[in-house]
Amino acid sequence: AGAAAVILFNEGQPGRAEVLTGTLGAPDVTIPVIGTSHAIGVDLADPAGTTVRVRTDTTSDTRTTWNVLAETKKGSRDDIVMSGAHLDSVPVGAGINDNGSGSAALLELALKSNKLKLKNKLRFAWWGAEENNLLGSTHYVGALSEAESARIAMYLNYDMIGSPNHVYFIYDGDDSDATGAPAGPEGSAQIEKVLEKYFDRRGLPHKGTDFDGRSDYGPFIATGIPSGGLFTGAEGIKTAEEAALFGGTAGQAYDPCYHAPCDGTANINPTALKHNLAAMAFTAYTFGSAAELPGT
Ligand code: PHE
Ligand code: ZN
Ligand code: ZN
Ligand code: ZN
Repeated sequence: AGAAAVILFNEGQPGRAEVLTGTLGAPDVTIPVIGTSHAIGVDLADPAGTTVRVRTDTTSDTRTTWNVLAETKKGSRDDIVMSGAHLDSVPVGAGINDNGSGSAALLELALKSNKLKLKNKLRFAWWGAEENNLLGSTHYVGALSEAESARIAMYLNYDMIGSPNHVYFIYDGDDSDATGAPAGPEGSAQIEKVLEKYFDRRGLPHKGTDFDGRSDYGPFIATGIPSGGLFTGAEGIKTAEEAALFGGTAGQAYDPCYHAPCDGTANINPTALKHNLAAMAFTAYTFGSAAELPGT
């Protein structure tokens, strides 16, 4: 009894576990969904090595979903600066911070971008099915011809940018912050520097975060397209040092409503969202008007 086991369950589906074979130590096990991981550790009442199969109370189904793409009329079609945010949420809630925040900010940026003087084209993507293993962005990148792929100079990702207990995280494209995650394709460091510049100019703190592919930039870096992006934190716990630097509450999650029903309109820090939108616009315009783009 009490042996640890890892139980696989329906992809992306939270719910109560129903034991089909074997025995769980606890009679009622609620399965959380953490990120894109589909496994939890539980205690087994049976000896180690026993196979336990469970079914959650939410059954899976088959659906069609879409990516929404738009681009500016202005700018060279051979030099594309792409920004993206996922439009879906997990089924359990409205997903206002994850990722209404990123997709709404991207919409505002896209609507204003036709007024910009541009040398390079800005392209915008609202991804479908990010929460199902990055399906939308993976499909898009996989369907690019070599010529189309070569035209995309960079990809900028915005997933969760208004967390209530926020940190201004910037994807660490060169592992200069020693998060331990691998560095991104060449050019990613240059993107990180431009994103950092927005915060530096306003005297705002910022911090590197893992560039590990846990959002829609994953397929882009896997194919060698320089990438970067912003993030204000999910289920991770704010440290005392971070609270001293960014304010907020140490010992609490950056987003206590991450993948939960309470991820509603109250689950947004408006100041964080405002600065991240401004940083997105600054970065898109900097690269949209640049004579030289990283990786070209
Ligand atoms: N992709 C995660 C989600 O949508 C959130 C996340 C974004 C985690 C960026 C880490 C870094 O649930
Ligand atoms: Zn999510
Ligand atoms: Zn997300
Ligand atoms: Zn760095």
